[in-house]
Amino acid sequence: MMKLALAAKERAYAPYSRFSVGACIRAESGRLYAGCNVENAAYPQGQCAEASAIAAMVAGGDRRIVEIVIVGDGEALCAPCGGCRQRLNEFADGTMSVHMAGPQGVRQTAKLGDLLPLAFGPHNLAT
Ligand code: THU
Repeated sequence: MMKLALAAKERAYAPYSRFSVGACIRAESGRLYAGCNVENAAYPQGQCAEASAIAAMVAGGDRRIVEIVIVGDGEALCAPCGGCRQRLNEFADGTMSVHMAGPQGVRQTAKLGDLLPLAFGPHNLAT
């Protein structure tokens, strides 16, 4: 997963922030899906690496995330943004593992439920 996340990070399109991120999801089927951030001159149209990996997963036919590796540079831990925590929650429960990594490897692992407590999710809308 780390290798795929790093390969995606290398291909990130981040000319504005110069902050490349790669992500790799392991889905319930066992398949792996990678993605990178893709920025845009109209800044709000940029997309996070996690969102790209989720899109690849859905297009690949999976719907449940078991774990994700997110790789970013810098001294500070590259934790998923608030919006991506919500995006991950759509396809996972609170037990899914979020591995936050630098280029050298995983620095910290957390459960999604700890990163996004009391989440609003699909269960709120189920009839
Ligand atoms: N970014 C991600 O792709 N994932 C994260 O978890 C944090 C931030 C991207 C968005 C933007 O392209 C760049 O990093 C700087 O915010």
